[in-house]
Amino acid sequence: EKGGYDHFMLKEIYEQPRAIQDTYRGRLLADQGLIKMAGIDDNLEKFMNANRIIIVACGTSWHAGLVAEYIFEDIARIPVEVEYASEFRYRNPVITDKDVLIAISQSGETADTLAAIKLAKEKGAFVFGVCNVVGSTISRETDAGAYTHAGPEIGVASTKAFTTQITVLSLIALKLAKEKGVLSKSKYHEFLTELENIPSKVERALLSNELIEKVAEVYKDATNCLYLGRGYNFPVALEGALKLKEISYIHAEGYPAAEMKHGPIALIDEHMPVFVIATKKGHYEKVVSNIQEIKSRKGKIIAIVTEGDEAVKELADHVIEVPETFESLTPLLTTIPLQLLSYHIALMRGCNVDQPRNLAKSVTVE
Ligand code: M6R
Repeated sequence: EKGGYDHFMLKEIYEQPRAIQDTYRGRLLADQGLIKMAGIDDNLEKFMNANRIIIVACGTSWHAGLVAEYIFEDIARIPVEVEYASEFRYRNPVITDKDVLIAISQSGETADTLAAIKLAKEKGAFVFGVCNVVGSTISRETDAGAYTHAGPEIGVASTKAFTTQITVLSLIALKLAKEKGVLSKSKYHEFLTELENIPSKVERALLSNELIEKVAEVYKDATNCLYLGRGYNFPVALEGALKLKEISYIHAEGYPAAEMKHGPIALIDEHMPVFVIATKKGHYEKVVSNIQEIKSRKGKIIAIVTEGDEAVKELADHVIEVPETFESLTPLLTTIPLQLLSYHIALMRGCNVDQPRNLAKSVTVE
């Protein structure tokens, strides 16, 4: 059932090229310049007239929501707020019938996310679900939705759910951008073509597995780690840290790289591994200077870079390459090495990769 892999997590990491393809199959018609999604098409007015989109989710799904915030605002010019479902539901939020709420949940059973949906519905908002499990409670409680079609995710650490959620949300953002006329025709078409290139680029990112295993060997005994990224890759830094925490039990924190100077830089010494996402597009020069700041304080730098990068290679202790893509699609690639890294470190530490302590696959308690 693990398809020849030692663990579900590894199988699910390797399934991502296919899972992403399954997510856009039948929806992304690049040659016709079309994105077909019934849940959006049937409710287009709701999205077009929305004052804002509120995204609610927990854990990894919340990180996918943060990536979506960047893409919705950047490409579709729709204001977005992203909230932990557990906070949203208890803070008497201002919601009206002009709001669209998107709930993201792999399992479709997360209690806090479900409660947030109920609250938003009571206040008259239109509620859209992005779920993986077909027929799950959230998929039934929402007004409309889009499935991720990632296939069953068994490992407690979410992997392919994350990349397929980002794929669905990118499709929605592109579709709305086109409808609103806020994205040039040529850019829109380039996006559709590039989305189709993503599975083979994920495939290429997976080729770094052996190198990542070697990097894991070096840092497996760390007690603390930092993950840094900016813009679209800030949520990837959070996700990288969560993956390491939950399966290897190493304390890790994700930060926007520029926040370092506001406190966390005090933690840097020769014992601190810092994982930095430093891809070419998106604040590259700024990230390079953040790397210099860490280096001058003797931190160990492991950088995720674009293929062919020169400048970061000079500075970092290790570099892991991912193919080049549009800035907004980089999370689909930069997250891959971080998933593999957590997997190998957890394995080397003798942890139960698929069923980490204290955690369950779906959190149906509040
Ligand atoms: O099923 P959901 O997407 O609603 O689950 C949300 C979180 O519980 C989940 O992403 C959790 O954080 C994972 N263990 C992360 O790997």
